[in-house]
Amino acid sequence: MIKINKLVIPVAGLGTRFLPVTKGVPKEMLPIVSKPTIMILLEEAIDAGIEEVLFVINSRKECIKTFFEMEELYEGKVDDIKEITQSIKINYVYQEKPLGSGDAILKAKDFVGNNPFAIIYGDDLIKGKSAIKELIIDYDKYQSNIIGISKADSKDLSKYGIIEFKENNEINRIIEKPNINEAPSNYAVLGRYIFNPEIFECLEQLKMQSKNEYQLTEAMTMLMKKQKFYGCKFSGKYFDIGSKIGYLKANIEYALDNDELSIELKEYLKNLSI
Ligand code: G1P
Repeated sequence: MIKINKLVIPVAGLGTRFLPVTKGVPKEMLPIVSKPTIMILLEEAIDAGIEEVLFVINSRKECIKTFFEMEELYEGKVDDIKEITQSIKINYVYQEKPLGSGDAILKAKDFVGNNPFAIIYGDDLIKGKSAIKELIIDYDKYQSNIIGISKADSKDLSKYGIIEFKENNEINRIIEKPNINEAPSNYAVLGRYIFNPEIFECLEQLKMQSKNEYQLTEAMTMLMKKQKFYGCKFSGKYFDIGSKIGYLKANIEYALDNDELSIELKEYLKNLSI
């Protein structure tokens, strides 16, 4: 059986929903309590047995690189970062122009080679069991492309790619950001994917979409004509940390789980007269 051991994390977006802070700090570096999101994402990947990761960054996001470089000054104080760097090999590639998710993933072609691989989006945080591990379990079962999905509120369907099912968990198509009345289900695509390497042939044929971007969803639609796709209903709770409200919710829930903070935070929230 083929082992999924490579992961791509695209983090070269502009973070426009979270300006002005994202002009200076990548949204993926903003803290969830005290850890930047990318650290939590790598812990999810390590839990799934991933051995090598490629961050798709740009030159304004060099601080992601420096974050993982170990400095003598911090010796013994950041053991959880050291544990990550010892468990997973970290690589970088540059996407200087924000030309969309399709263009970002295509930058990973050489890194991936000719095996199936995983993708985690840098602004999609899933709390609970490792979601990418759940997708890998489904890949082992179906031996085909897997997309991480979860139910979304009807008011949010127009923010996501929405799944039209064939039967059971097989996917018929994905409608990108539909109007509520055109959504074929309430299952949304939420930033976790396993693809066969043939996705790169489709990415190479992509035409530019609206907003001058190449869309990963278009490449999936092309590959769906030749290969099967299945939805993995991951069990964790999803947070869109690229939005202000999603980021705040994530911080509250992770802090409520933190031994150092939970008692005082619960007390504080209870006493807030809202
Ligand atoms: C992208 C995808 C969309 C997905 C979403 C959340 O949209 O195109 O299918 O539902 O991420 O992971 P974006 O948020 O980049 O506009």
